[in-house]
Amino acid sequence: ASGGVGLAAIQYARYKGAEVFATAGTDEKRDFVRLMGADHVLDSRSLKFAEDVMRLSQGQGVDVVLNSISGEAINRNLSILRPFGRFLELGKRDFYENSKIGLRPFRNNISYFGIDADQLLIERPQLAGRLFQEMMGLFQAGVLRPLPHRVFPAQRIQEAFRYMQQSRQIGKVIVSFEGEQLQPSFPAKTDTSLQLATDSSYLITGGLSGFGLKTAAWLAGKGAKTLILLSRSGKAAAEDQACLEQLQAAGIQLVVYACDVTDQAALAEVFTEIQKKLPPLRGVIHAAMVLDDVIVRNMSADSFRQVIAPKMLGAWNLHELTADLALDFFVLYSSITTSLGNPGQANYVAANLFLESLAEYRRQQGLVASFAAWGPIADAGYLTRNEAVKDALQSRLGGAAITTAQALTVLEQLLQSQQTGVAVVNWDWSNLQRVMPNARSAKFAELQRSVAMGDEGEQTKDIHELVAGLSAEATHQLVTDMLLAEVGHILRLPVDKLSADKSVFDLGMDSLMGMELVLAIEERFKVRLPVMALTEGATVSRIAEKIVAQLHPQESVAAPTEQELKQQSIAAVVKKHGSDMTDAELAQLAAHLSAEEARN
Ligand SMILES: NC(=O)c1ccc[n+]([C@@H]2O[C@H](COP(=O)([O-])OP(=O)(O)OC[C@H]3O[C@@H](n4cnc5c(N)ncnc54)[C@H](OP(=O)(O)O)[C@@H]3O)[C@@H](O)[C@H]2O)c1
Repeated sequence: ASGGVGLAAIQYARYKGAEVFATAGTDEKRDFVRLMGADHVLDSRSLKFAEDVMRLSQGQGVDVVLNSISGEAINRNLSILRPFGRFLELGKRDFYENSKIGLRPFRNNISYFGIDADQLLIERPQLAGRLFQEMMGLFQAGVLRPLPHRVFPAQRIQEAFRYMQQSRQIGKVIVSFEGEQLQPSFPAKTDTSLQLATDSSYLITGGLSGFGLKTAAWLAGKGAKTLILLSRSGKAAAEDQACLEQLQAAGIQLVVYACDVTDQAALAEVFTEIQKKLPPLRGVIHAAMVLDDVIVRNMSADSFRQVIAPKMLGAWNLHELTADLALDFFVLYSSITTSLGNPGQANYVAANLFLESLAEYRRQQGLVASFAAWGPIADAGYLTRNEAVKDALQSRLGGAAITTAQALTVLEQLLQSQQTGVAVVNWDWSNLQRVMPNARSAKFAELQRSVAMGDEGEQTKDIHELVAGLSAEATHQLVTDMLLAEVGHILRLPVDKLSADKSVFDLGMDSLMGMELVLAIEERFKVRLPVMALTEGATVSRIAEKIVAQLHPQESVAAPTEQELKQQSIAAVVKKHGSDMTDAELAQLAAHLSAEEARN
């Protein structure tokens, strides 16, 4: 009971006049719990507390158990409940492990409550609001007091976690941003240009194509004479040949390896050969990547592995195999998606976050390490081969893709600074907030403030204000127009090229864009649509109906016409007897039957 919840519970139980039996794990904590007003304080690290409770209550047991410890303690706690007692389970572990408990204790009219406060806030916001108000009233009346806590400044967040890991806390552990600089720091511009050693080698994974190859060429521009370029195929694409030839013509020694960075043995061989044959390795740039975008619901373990392996395992192999080398730099190419996430790229975001953490970890070990989280790059690499993805990213971020020249200028600054990482992107924050709800999270407070002013257009007006007093029909029209604008925005198409009566997928959206639309709807209309609302056949007009139904719950539910009722009942019959058919086949059959019906 010495944790935050336990101490709060003691206060509340005392306020309700209860006799409190509390357990805690150490002498220090038990003393504290006693000070906080528990009547009986027992040891939580042994199961003997159950016998003690029975003894102290003259064999009666207790009326309420508030439990958050897992395992056998649950059975002991159930056994000390009096008839009609209540068992309140706060711990989540046993729920997720699907632990079994016997029913015998329930013969005594006891009740078991599973409690998850997160769900309370999401599923019953009104009840949560009422409970909070009640609690705040008790604070104002001086009945309840803030819990004891220990504050760590954000700069020392590791200490906070270590403290908690060692179970040393009494009450709450708070990480405070007060007085902290929230502006991201940026490596300073330097007057001197980066100068690389001519008698050294530099390794670039993914160095035979795209941005990796551009980076290699840039390193040559900074003085490097021996470049080791590594990729699985060991081959450059046709469009990258010219760049390789130019480097060779400039007298740069290019050493190419066909090697999979995830294969540690193969990579070790490469390192042995480098050591034998080439000038000492002084720098590593890990740019290898594979993409496989798919919304997380449909993401297979294979897809996840395929994307995280080259980045994560590749980086780890490089980290281990270079452990004994005196490197000047070890750069990991990450992506701006680690700041905000990106629908369809859970695997890629996870992989890049690992790289950023590895850079921090290496620094802690006294090793060189940097990461650069790039925004979309316009003139080299993946996006030059996938224009549609580039357009979609630009529309989401609201800013132009960066150029390799811009990126490499920042890389130069980063390598000359003490900073571990940097993010480089053009974005329009007000645009981003519309499509990425987590752009509103607290860590971006500074950015939000900078765009909050002067953003008072129709787009940002509260939707309820806009529809107040409008008929359901007019609301439907307004929502349809706004939705068309969103769809146009996502597809980068003018609204007059879109039809509200065509399936959004026929308009050109794919499932990732569908996800983006769901997010934009949540953001713009403050309603939550199930992702299934965007299945085949969803037109803007139909989606608008679903939104209006949530904005105007009573008015919008227009009575179905006779024809619609017929169709619905035909569809229901077909559904019932056609369990082996796909949804598309069912829809087709339903349409056919209703056409027959209409003819009759
Ligand atoms: N392009 C962008 O807009 C952008 C934006 C943000 C961040 N970045 C980062 O910049 C880096 C380069 O991106 P890019 O667009 O230039 O990529 P890219 O053109 O697709 O090149 C990726 C390279 O990685 C190699 N590769 C993949 N798996 C490998 C493995 N297991 N072992 C060795 N090599 C492997 C590929 O060659 P093989 O197939 O022959 O192995 C290819 O040469 C990536 O780390 C990416 O995350 C790029």
